[in-house]
Amino acid sequence: MREPHSWADIDTDALRHNLQRARICAPGRRVCAVIKANAYGHGVHTVARALQPVFLADDLFAVATLNEALILRHTASRETILVLRGPLDADELAVLVHGGFHWVLHSRWQAEMLKSWLHKHPAIQQVSLNIWLKINTGMNRLGVPVDDLHDIWPWLQSLKLPGERVLMSHFATADEHDHVLAAHQQTEFDRIVTRLPDAAHCSRSLSASAGIVSWPQAHHDIVRPGIMLYGASPMADTDGSHYNLKPVMSLKARLLTINHVKAGDTVGYGATYYCQQDTPIGVIGIGYGDGYPRHAPSGTPVMIYAQGKVWEAPLAGRVSMDMLTVDLTGIPANPGDEVLLWGQAWGSVLPADRIARYAGTIAYELFCQITSRVRFNS
Ligand SMILES: Cc1ncc(COP(=O)(O)O)c(C=O)c1O
Repeated sequence: MREPHSWADIDTDALRHNLQRARICAPGRRVCAVIKANAYGHGVHTVARALQPVFLADDLFAVATLNEALILRHTASRETILVLRGPLDADELAVLVHGGFHWVLHSRWQAEMLKSWLHKHPAIQQVSLNIWLKINTGMNRLGVPVDDLHDIWPWLQSLKLPGERVLMSHFATADEHDHVLAAHQQTEFDRIVTRLPDAAHCSRSLSASAGIVSWPQAHHDIVRPGIMLYGASPMADTDGSHYNLKPVMSLKARLLTINHVKAGDTVGYGATYYCQQDTPIGVIGIGYGDGYPRHAPSGTPVMIYAQGKVWEAPLAGRVSMDMLTVDLTGIPANPGDEVLLWGQAWGSVLPADRIARYAGTIAYELFCQITSRVRFNS
């Protein structure tokens, strides 16, 4: 096969290191490793295979949809899988229950659907019901309203089917230090679950990555790390290295050519970059068709490995579908040199968090947007 023009190196040692970081932040807690959306764009099979050997007995994976869970089953058949969105309809419910999946019950209509499904299948005695009851504590996205618990909870408790029951909620603002809503959600979750009758035997789960690194009071029994596994920071305005996380994805491409653009000329679509002086402009073989963010403005850094050294060069002009352009002033680069768009290489790190800040987004989105044109190496 021909060499790709853009590629992503996936560092599975870094992935395992980051899982260990989650364990150090939340000692003794079960880990529910979140690998939805193709493991945040990193490749779900690679990620699941890398994490499985370092799972402890009660750890599990989480994905968003039943389809993702079925795909993951092929790779990680031994591991427990949680489906965060729960069933969409009775068919999905049947597959979740018969397949032994864990699933989130987040709405009254799902409870009603389960009730009538059980009613229609009275012979079912031995299936396990592994239900994570999601309670709305302030996110106002998925979650049973507190007022609905007075009948949903006793009904769930009355089901004599075996299986695990977990009480969970999800933070809306844990990525901002000391946000008043996160503090409120945390106390609200504690208040609700301690008042639920006969809930002592249920595990509790509130924290995703931001809660893991910043809200130790909210670790409870099971933590759900996602973004931190991939080495990016869960907290707004810091980089993953602040929490001793290592980048897992390193996105790379090559310098295609160097143009000597005259003073007064402009570069690229929209002529948005104006050369004040004669400027060497490097053209790099990656663009938004590969998933590099089009909104990254001039000034966003890339790293170039040239003449045995690492150099940082700023984007110059708009990102296009197949290419982007950088100002190579003072950099002795040549066509064919390797370029790092984010991640780590040659002993240097270019955090995806940093690129995300330039592009007005978050590392989550950068990772998820990588397209099939990029070759994955692991
Ligand atoms: C319910 C739930 N738990 C955990 C996570 C993981 O979050 P993070 O990637 O911020 O760790 C997510 C991600 O969206 C989620 O929806």
